Amino acid sequence: MAEQSELFSAPAPKGQARAATKIEALRAQLNRWAHEYYVQDAPSVPDAEYDRAFQQLQALEGAYPGLVTPDSPTQRVIGAVLPGLAVVRHHVPMLSIRTETDTEASGAQTFDARVRRELKLAADAPPVEYVAEPKFDGLAMSLRYEAGRLVQAATRGDGEVGEDVTHNIRTIRQIPLLLHGGGDDASLPVPPVLEVRGEVYMRRADFERLNERQRERGDKTFVNPRNAAAGAVRQLDSGIAAQRPLSFFAYGLGEVTPPGEDGPDFTSHHQVLQQLKKWGFPVSSLVSQALGATELVAYHQRIGALRDELPFDIDGVVYKVDSLQLQRELGFVTREPRWAVAHKYPAQEMVTRVEGIDIQVGRTGKLTPVARLAPVFVGGVTVTNATLHNLFELRRKGVRVGDEVIVRRAGDVIPEVVGRLPAPRGSYVANFRMPRECPICASRVLREPGEADHRCSGGLFCPAQRKQALLHFAQRRAMDIEGLGEKLVDQLIEGHIVRSLPDLYRLGLATLAQLDRMADKSAQNLLAALEKSQRTTLARFLFALGIRHVGEATAKELARHFGQLDALMDADVDALMQVPDVGPIVAQAVHDFFAEPHNREVVEQLRACGVRWPEGEPQPAALLPLAGKTVVLTGQLPTLGREQAKEMLEAAGARVAGSVSGKTSYVVAGAEAGSKLERARALGVPVLDEDGLHALLQGGAA
Ligand code: IVH
Repeated sequence: MAEQSELFSAPAPKGQARAATKIEALRAQLNRWAHEYYVQDAPSVPDAEYDRAFQQLQALEGAYPGLVTPDSPTQRVIGAVLPGLAVVRHHVPMLSIRTETDTEASGAQTFDARVRRELKLAADAPPVEYVAEPKFDGLAMSLRYEAGRLVQAATRGDGEVGEDVTHNIRTIRQIPLLLHGGGDDASLPVPPVLEVRGEVYMRRADFERLNERQRERGDKTFVNPRNAAAGAVRQLDSGIAAQRPLSFFAYGLGEVTPPGEDGPDFTSHHQVLQQLKKWGFPVSSLVSQALGATELVAYHQRIGALRDELPFDIDGVVYKVDSLQLQRELGFVTREPRWAVAHKYPAQEMVTRVEGIDIQVGRTGKLTPVARLAPVFVGGVTVTNATLHNLFELRRKGVRVGDEVIVRRAGDVIPEVVGRLPAPRGSYVANFRMPRECPICASRVLREPGEADHRCSGGLFCPAQRKQALLHFAQRRAMDIEGLGEKLVDQLIEGHIVRSLPDLYRLGLATLAQLDRMADKSAQNLLAALEKSQRTTLARFLFALGIRHVGEATAKELARHFGQLDALMDADVDALMQVPDVGPIVAQAVHDFFAEPHNREVVEQLRACGVRWPEGEPQPAALLPLAGKTVVLTGQLPTLGREQAKEMLEAAGARVAGSVSGKTSYVVAGAEAGSKLERARALGVPVLDEDGLHALLQGGAA
C-alpha cells in the first residue's frame, strides 16, 4: 500500500521505472491466470485475487498513461465505434474443405482411398496417419501475430479478402494478446510472423444465457449459437461484442515465418497443434491422431455419439493427413486441399415452410401449438411436425402459417421451430390464437396468471388426459385400486372399455376376462379391489380427482375444512382461501375444476356407482385441538402403524413433519427411535410414547 501511494504521488523517472517493472509483473501474472481460467479451465486463484491484480494494474496504468500498451489485459475493449469494417487481404488464402457427403462409415473410407490413390501407395503399404478434429460450428478466423503480439484478426470472407474484426476479437479472453514463447523447454520461440487459423464460436450455455438476457431486455433473440457468434464478430462497437460471450479453438496456420528466417520447422499437423497449445491457444481436447480409415470411422462414431452432450455445436468432423510433407505432395484442387475433408453429420437444423398450426393436448391437459411442416429431413429423420411450445414462444418467434422457418431436431429431443426467416409475407396472415375450447373434449381452455401454458379444464372428461387421470385415481395414496397398473389402463383405454372414471366401477368379469394376460383369477381380484376402493375418505377422493395443485396434503385440509363434498363444490374462491395453506392459485384451481360441468358429472356418477365416504362436520382448522402443532413420529409404536398415527394426528389438526427442529411441538417415539429422539432431547422438545399420543389426541397432554 505504502509503495502504491508513493507511486501515485510521484510519477518521477525513478517511480516510473519501478512502475514499469510492477506493470510488467502484473501483466505476466494476469495473462497466466487468464490462460488457466479461459483456456485450460483450471484456475489456480480465486476470482477476487484476479480482480485485485487487475485493478492494481488499471490504477498503475492510470497514473502512467505512457506505459499503457495495446496488449495489456486492461486493453481488451477499446472504446471507439468504427464507421465500417476494413478490408483485409489474406497473405495465405483461407481455403474451404471438401465435404464428404457419403453417409456413415463410407465417408472416411472414400477419403482414405482417395489419399492412398493420389499418393500412389501400394495396397499393402501401412495405413496413413491422420488427425481427426471436430468441425466446429462457428466462423473461421485468422489471427495475425507479429513479434508475438496480436496485430490483426480477420474473417474468412471469400478466402482471399476478409474483414478486419480485430477490435472485437481482442475481447475474447481465450485469445492471447501476447504470446508466451520459450517458457517451457519443449516450446519453440514465437516466430516473427504467425497467423493462427481457427474457429470463433459460442458455447451452448453462453448462448442460452445471452438469449435469456435478450428476452429480459425485450431485445431480439438469436436463432442459434453460430448466428449469435457471427453477429458479435461483425459488430462495429467492441463494447457490444464484449458482452457476447465468444470462445475460440485453433486448428491450423496461415502465414508463418519460414524455417530459414527464424520460423519453426514443423513436420506434422499434430505437432503444430501441440505447439499452438504451448503458445497459449485453446485446442480442443477432442482432437485425436488416427491410423488409417478404421480409426477415422471409429472417431466419426465416437464424436457422433458425444455430439448432443458437447458444450458447443459441431456439424461434423474433419480428417487431415498428419504429415506436412504428404500434405504438400497432395496439394490442392481449385480451392480445396486434397489432404483434408469434412465428414458431416445429419444437419440438426433445416429450413422449411409452416403449412398449419395445430393444437396438441398432452396427458396433463397442456395445450401445445405444433407447426405442421412441409416434410424436411433433419437430425436424421423426416420431420412433419415441430413444437412451438406455447402461445408466448410462438408470439415471440412471430411464426405464422406460410412462413419459412428453421426447424431443429437434436438427438432424441422433439423437433422444435427455432424461428422464422426474415422474409416479407406475400399477403396478410392472421396471427395464431389459442382456442377457447379444448379441441379434444370442448371443455374450457384456461391459463393461470403468470403461467405460460394453456390447459384444458376437462380433466377426467378429456380423452387426452384419461390415461394419466386413471393412473392417478387408482394409485395407492388415492383410491388405492390394487392391480390397476399402466398396462391394464392402456388396454382399457385403447379398447374403449373405459372412457371416464365411473366406467371403472361398471366393469364386469366378462369384459375383463377378455383382456390380454388377464386370467379369471386376476379379473376377480381386480373387481374385488375396485369394490374395496369404493369405501374411501373425502380427502382421498379429492386427491384422486387430480385437481390441479391439489396434492395429498391440500386434499386433507380441504376435506377437514369443509367436511362435506357439496359444501366444497359450491365454495367460492374467497371461501376456499380460508383453508390453511390454500392461496389464490390453489383456490382458483379448485373453483375452476368444480365450475366445469363435465367434472361435476364425473363426481355425481362416481357417487352413483357407490363411491362413498363418511361425511363429517366442517372443522375449520383453527378449532381443532392440535391446530398449529407440529409433531414428529419416530421409531416403531407398539400397536399403531406410522400411517395410522399420522392420519389421527392430522385429523386432530396437527402437522406431521419429517425432522425435528426448535419448532417441533412433540416427538412421538417408539422402539428403536434413533437420531430424531436424540435431537428432541437435545432441543428440549417433549417426547411422548403411544399412550402419551392417545392422551394428546384426547386433549389430555401438556
Ligand atoms: S481446417 C484447409 N478444421 O469449416 C483446411 N476447418 O473450410 C482449412 N471448420 O469455415 C480448414 N472446424 O472454419 C478446419 N477443425 C477444423 C474446423 C474447420 C470447423 C470450418 C472452417 C471453415 C469450414 C471449412
